[in-house]
Amino acid sequence: MFFADEPILRVTAPLLRHWHREEESAESHDCNHTLQLANADTLTRRLARRAPLARNSRIETMRKLLLAATSAGLGLLVVGVGVAQQHTHHRDHQAASASDTRQLVHFPDQLREHTLANMRDHLLALQEIQEALAQKREDKAARIAEKRLGLSSLTLHGAHEVAKYMPPGMQDIGSEMHRSASRFALEAQNAGVTGDLRPALDALSKVTAQCVGCHAGYRLK
Ligand code: HEC
Repeated sequence: MFFADEPILRVTAPLLRHWHREEESAESHDCNHTLQLANADTLTRRLARRAPLARNSRIETMRKLLLAATSAGLGLLVVGVGVAQQHTHHRDHQAASASDTRQLVHFPDQLREHTLANMRDHLLALQEIQEALAQKREDKAARIAEKRLGLSSLTLHGAHEVAKYMPPGMQDIGSEMHRSASRFALEAQNAGVTGDLRPALDALSKVTAQCVGCHAGYRLK
């Protein structure tokens, strides 16, 4: 319940805008930049392009926010509200439309249910991958990633059926998620040999970047 849509949105949407603004700060920017964020293509391209450079500042931002939340003893919700307040300026400008600027995508009911169930399995897979990595079971992590998220999962998820209801930008992010999960699977196997987990963790962050990118741009109706 605590992690229902709203608090998460309040945290992630302003954060993404914040990062975006950091990157745009060299230019004079206006609210159009914020609105452009609704465009998931831009966002994913940016995530892909900026991931290595921006990682530190993102982690730093996250760390500060989490520290703030912990010391306040009130959890992420407070952070969400705090960050949202910092961005009141932007929110006010968007208020005329809806504060949720994600593109609505229509799926037939059954497919929607099926997709959301897949999504929950994506999250479970990430959890199992992290657990396996912590237990030095890199092969297991690789197997989970390839089967449940990677290119081998396409049939499992009925990707062909679902893809035709997705706008092209959303399809691209979906494909990129499968590709990056397969890349992670290879890096995890390498880590089992080299003992260095960092390339695998980096590859895993490219997978979650696709989750973040798609969720920031699209929602189902
Ligand atoms: C190509 C787009 C896309 C990708 C990639 C994607 N998702 Fe989703 N996900 C969605 C959409 C759309 C929803 C529905 C959101 C809404 O309607 O508010 C959703 C919903 C969810 C939900 C909520 C499920 C429910 O029962 O309501 C979870 C959990 C989730 N995604 C996890 C993940 C994880 C973890 C990843 C990455 C490994 C991921 N998703 C990748 C599009 C995507």
